[in-house]
Amino acid sequence: MTEDEAKKRLKALAMEIRIADAQYYQDDAPALSDAEYDALRQENAQIEAKFPHLIRKDSPSLAVGANPAGKFGKIKHAVPMLSLDNAFTDQDVEDFTMRIKRFLNLPENTVIEFTAEPKIDGLSASLRYENGVLVSGATRGDGQVGEDVTANLRTLATIPKKLSGADWPEVLEIRGEVYIDHANFDTMNAEQVKAGKDAYKNPRNAAAGSLRQIDPEITAARPLKFFAYTWGEISAPLSDTQMGAVAAMARWGFETNSNMKVHKSPAEMNAHYHEIEAARPGLGYDIDGVVYKVNDLALQDRLGFISRAPRWAIAHKFPAEKAITKINDIEIQVGRTGALTPVAKLEPITVGGVVVSNATLHNEDEITRLGVKPGDMVEIQRAGDVIPQVLRVTKDGGNPPFKYPENCPICDAPAVNDIDEKTGRVDVVRRCTNGLNCPAQAVESLIHFVSRRAFDIDGMGSKQIEVFYDKGLVTAPAQIFTLQSRNDDIKLESWEGWGETSARNLFDAINARRTIDFDKFLYAQGIRHIGQGNAGLLAKHYLKWDKFYEAIRSIENDESPAWIELMSIDGVGPGAASSLRDFFGAKNNQAMINRLLDHVTVMEAEAPSTDSAVSGKTVVFTGKLERFSRDEAKARAQSVGAKVSGSVSAKTDYLVAGPGAGSKLTKATSLGIDILTEDEWLDLIN
Ligand code: IVH
Repeated sequence: MTEDEAKKRLKALAMEIRIADAQYYQDDAPALSDAEYDALRQENAQIEAKFPHLIRKDSPSLAVGANPAGKFGKIKHAVPMLSLDNAFTDQDVEDFTMRIKRFLNLPENTVIEFTAEPKIDGLSASLRYENGVLVSGATRGDGQVGEDVTANLRTLATIPKKLSGADWPEVLEIRGEVYIDHANFDTMNAEQVKAGKDAYKNPRNAAAGSLRQIDPEITAARPLKFFAYTWGEISAPLSDTQMGAVAAMARWGFETNSNMKVHKSPAEMNAHYHEIEAARPGLGYDIDGVVYKVNDLALQDRLGFISRAPRWAIAHKFPAEKAITKINDIEIQVGRTGALTPVAKLEPITVGGVVVSNATLHNEDEITRLGVKPGDMVEIQRAGDVIPQVLRVTKDGGNPPFKYPENCPICDAPAVNDIDEKTGRVDVVRRCTNGLNCPAQAVESLIHFVSRRAFDIDGMGSKQIEVFYDKGLVTAPAQIFTLQSRNDDIKLESWEGWGETSARNLFDAINARRTIDFDKFLYAQGIRHIGQGNAGLLAKHYLKWDKFYEAIRSIENDESPAWIELMSIDGVGPGAASSLRDFFGAKNNQAMINRLLDHVTVMEAEAPSTDSAVSGKTVVFTGKLERFSRDEAKARAQSVGAKVSGSVSAKTDYLVAGPGAGSKLTKATSLGIDILTEDEWLDLIN
C-alpha cells in the first residue's frame, strides 16, 4: 500500500466506522455484523501501525469508541499472561533463591541479582504497540485469552497512545497493573453513593468494574491509572536486565514504580520487603506484597516457567489482616469432587476493608484442632483473595462440641476419608461416595464445566445451572448442547426472567462452544488434580484428544507404556496421573465423555516449536550433567519440543550421557541409539 492509498483508505474507514457507530448507538439499527465492524476497526489499526504519521485527528482508534457487541471481544495473548507463586516468610524467599541456583546448577555462594518492587493490588492489562502506536489492549482473562478493552484502556492518561522516544521495538506488548489510588477511590465512591449506587468494596473492585464498562465514556470518567512492570510479545529485546527494561518503559512514556531496587542477597530482599511494608500505609495505593524477579534476562530465559508461573519471580505477600467475630453456624458444603468442607457462618465483620460473613474451616481435623463450635467467638484472618480462615477460639459460647457428619449432607450417601495410595495415610478430607449421583457434586461439576476457564458459556452461571438441574433438564454436560433442540418443549423464552433475546443469546453462546480447545475440554471435566496448568501440559504433549483419550484408557498398570509416557511429562506428577487413569477408566465417565463428543469437537492443540531439530524426538539424560541441572535439562528439552524419558528403549532417539553413565549407556549402545555429550546436545538444540 502506498502512502497515498493509505491516506485515502484511512479517511474512508473513519467515515464508515463513524456511520456504523451511529447506526448502532443512535438509531439502534446496525447495518453491519459484529464481524464486519471488527474487520473495519482492525484494518484501520493495521494501516495506522504501518503509517503512524497518517493517523487522523478523527481516527476511530483515537475516539472514545465503543463496543458494538455489547460485550467484549476476545484477544488471544501472543505470550500467555502468567501468575506468580507466593512466598510468605523470609525463609521462603531464601528457599526461592536457592531453588534458582540449584536449577541453574550454580554453587550456593553465587551472587544472583534480584529486583524487588511493590505488588500492586489492581488488575493486569496488556497493551500492544505496533510501530510505537497503541493498537490494542486486553485484560488478563484466563491468561491465554483476555477481553478486548482497547477503547477503555485508551481513556487512561497514564497509557500513551503513541510512545515517546524512538528506541522501542516494532512490536511491543507492555503489561502492568490498572489501579485506582486511595484519594480518587474515596471521591469516586462518594459520587457513586450520591448517585444512589452501591459503593465499591475496595479500590481493586472499583478498578475492575471501571475497566469493564461497555461504554468507554464511563471508564474515561473513572480515575484509573496504570503502572508498567513487564512485557509480552516483543520483536527485539528491551534490555539485558529487568531493571533496564523497566527504565526503557519509563523512557517511552509509562509510569513505573519508583520503589524498585536491585538486591544481591535474600537478606537485602527481605530488608527491602520490610521497608515497603512499613511504607505501605503512606503509599496512597493498595499493594499486597513485594515481587522479586531475577534481574538478568538471560537467566530468566534459562529458568523459564513451570505451569502458570515463572521460575524466576515470586510474590512475597504481606501478612493477613485479622478480626474477632461470632460463629453463628457451621455449614457443610459439598464440592465438585465430593469433598465435604465445613464453612463457618459468621456475624458479618469488616476485615481490611471487606465485609466477611463466611470463613473456611477446611476439614474435620481443623474443627477438632480449633475446638470450634457454633456460638463461639473466633479470630479470623483474610489475606488478599484467599478465603478467610478461622485462627482460634477467643471465647467459648458454651454449646456442645460440633458433630461432624458421617454422611453427605446433600444425598445422605456415606462420606469417607480416602486412603492415599502412595503414603497409605488416611486423607483428612471426607468425601461423599455417591459421585455424580450426588446432586451437589453433579451441580458443582456442571458449574465448573460452564465456567470461564472451561467452556466459558456466557449467560450460563451457577444460578442457571441450578435451575436447569432442579428441573431435570441438564443433569450431564451433553444435555447443555441439546437444550436448544428441546426448546419446543422447554420454552425457555417464557420462563420468569427470560425472554426471546436472552434465550437466543444463551443458545448462541452454547453453539459458539461446539468446538473447543483440548486443554479447556480436559479442564472442564473437573478431574481431581487436573487444573488449567496440567490440562495445558497434557494438551501440548498429546496434541490430539483421541490420542490422549486412547492412551489413558490403555493404562493397565505402572509398566504400561502409556503410564510411563504420562509420568515423563514435566510437571505431571503421580497424583494427577492416577487421577486421570481412574477417571477415564470408569465406564460411566467414558459414556459421559462419548455423549459429550457427539455434540462437541475438540480442537487439536498447537505443537510447541516444530522448527527445532529435536521436536518430537525422545531423549534420555544419564550420568552427571555439568552444564545444567537435571530439571533445567528436562525443561529445556521440552521447550524445544523433545520428549524426555527416564528409561532407554527402542523408541529413544538420543541419550545424553555425562560422566559416570552406567547401564543406560550400555543399553543405548547395544540398541544403536545416538549418544551425545552435553555440549553436543546443546549444539543440537540451539
Ligand atoms: S510480574 C511473569 N510485577 O500480580 C510475571 N506482577 O499474582 C508477571 N502484579 O498477574 C507478573 N504487581 O497482575 C508483576 N510488580 C508486579 C506486579 C504484578 C502486581 C500482579 C499481576 C499478576 C499478579 C500475580
